[in-house]
Amino acid sequence: MENARPVSDSCSEYSELALPNDANPLGNLIGGRVMHLVDISGAIAAMRHARIPVVTASVDHMTFLHPVHIGELVILKSTVNRVFRTSMEVGVKVMVENMRTGVRRHTSSAYLTFVGIDADGNRVPLPQAIPETEEEKRRFHAAGERRKYRLELRGK
Ligand SMILES: CC(C)(COP(=O)(O)OP(=O)(O)OC[C@H]1O[C@@H](n2cnc3c(N)ncnc32)[C@H](O)[C@@H]1OP(=O)(O)O)[C@@H](O)C(=O)NCCC(=O)NCCS
Repeated sequence: MENARPVSDSCSEYSELALPNDANPLGNLIGGRVMHLVDISGAIAAMRHARIPVVTASVDHMTFLHPVHIGELVILKSTVNRVFRTSMEVGVKVMVENMRTGVRRHTSSAYLTFVGIDADGNRVPLPQAIPETEEEKRRFHAAGERRKYRLELRGK
């Protein structure tokens, strides 16, 4: 397809230090801050692929496997899994790095759907994202299954 580009072109990494301003009363990062970072990180991959403005249409459920301690580094890796027509699924993986030890752990993953929008606010058909590696192909197929479920929920 014209303008189609490899999935790898969208791969992005975004990091932020967990700071006291975003702490809960236990002294850990509030979940809402992580969700905010997930949205930004997902939008970066989506825009890197589409090269036009995008809006968040939906976010699938998120789980928080471990608390993020203040002073740790939150690292978000995002990539476009699959383009449908005007929408695309982006996967975001959240890792947390202990700055003293360098140890990283996986704390959350999320799937978001972004829609490409033109200057007049209209939805725009997007270039396809071509999966090349086995991992990208697996995500491409899984994204199709998740879309069915999402659109079913939307209809309810
Ligand atoms: C997202 C938005 C553009 C969808 O508009 P709409 O009138 O529902 O448009 P459509 O029904 O034509 O859907 C457009 C695309 O979004 C997809 N979509 C819409 N709602 C979706 C949802 N809940 N989950 C997944 N995909 C969704 C549709 O499947 C379609 O994809 P396709 O073209 O690849 O097949 C519109 O609801 C919107 O602007 N929402 C506000 C977005 C925003 O401001 N987000 C920031 C947070 S407030």
